[in-house]
Amino acid sequence: MGEKKMHRKYLALAGVLSLVTVTAGGCKGSEEKDVKNIKIGVTLYSQYDTFISELMTEFTEYAADKEESSGVAIKLEILDASQSQLTQNEQVKNLIDKGCDVVCVNLVDRTEPTTITDLAENNQVPIIFFNRELVTEDLERWSELYYVGADASQSGVLEGEIAADAFKKNADIDKNGDGICQYVVLEGEAGHQDSIVRTEYSVNTMVEKGVETEKLGYAIANWNRAQAQTKMAALLTQFDGKIEMIIANNDDMALGAIDALKASDIPKESWPGVVGIDGTDEGIEAVKNEEMLGTVYNDKEGQAREMLNLAFVIATDGDKSDIPLIDGKYVRTPYHKLTLENIEEYE
Ligand code: GAL
Repeated sequence: MGEKKMHRKYLALAGVLSLVTVTAGGCKGSEEKDVKNIKIGVTLYSQYDTFISELMTEFTEYAADKEESSGVAIKLEILDASQSQLTQNEQVKNLIDKGCDVVCVNLVDRTEPTTITDLAENNQVPIIFFNRELVTEDLERWSELYYVGADASQSGVLEGEIAADAFKKNADIDKNGDGICQYVVLEGEAGHQDSIVRTEYSVNTMVEKGVETEKLGYAIANWNRAQAQTKMAALLTQFDGKIEMIIANNDDMALGAIDALKASDIPKESWPGVVGIDGTDEGIEAVKNEEMLGTVYNDKEGQAREMLNLAFVIATDGDKSDIPLIDGKYVRTPYHKLTLENIEEYE
């Protein structure tokens, strides 16, 4: 038994009644703790988010593979916080009480992690935050807090490059022929690192790539396809024929914009260019159908694999040297451009 596990056992026995109860059931910390059994808890900000649900499908598959290759039984408990931070705080408490060795948290409110980080530290249960990034100071509150995700600015840069390349190569996109790209932005949740950073970097990159831009408007559609459709329908009416580029912070909102275009009377050849981020199954399909100029692949396989590997190493007191940790805390997978030119790599 590793030193950390002993420490956890001591804490469990030292007074956290609910942990002792669960421990008796054999989940963690008992003298006989068999590292052949681990338990990983997960709580999602929303199970209805397309990217998150595709990420979790990969995570579950990697867990099954890992179980087979390592011979360690991995019990996963995956919960949906239904966009409530209070619900999520309760879920983390329950997962810890049930004896999870580590809990993976897709924070509902990235500015409110302290209830969870306090619970984690008090019970000596490590937390891997993922996808919704907390500020550095919060992650530094305890040594056993980690983050798995990607670099938001890179996704914005790559999205801007796709839009700029298309605008420069395809004169039809510049509908009024003024040499300026008139665009609108569909933004994800206000306050989410990916909304703020992607919006800024995508447009700045277009400018850096030599495209003159003019922002006509924007709408917040919370990563959501139906909301994006409604908001885009209104923008199409408001800017009647003037929009040349739709820059969406993710694929679901790009797809919502395409839904609005399909429902409008604008013929496909006169649609604005649409760019997204994620490379969801339907996003890739839309690139293939030439409804989207391109997307930026958000490596859900890589994030799922790194999160599972990190959770496994933590839960088994294994060696972290194979985990690509930055500053001992962060794992970030790279983004990739996905356009018609390289789509076969993603099918
Ligand atoms: C982003 C992703 C969005 C949405 C969001 C949820 O990284 O691009 O589609 O899933 O995370 O936090």
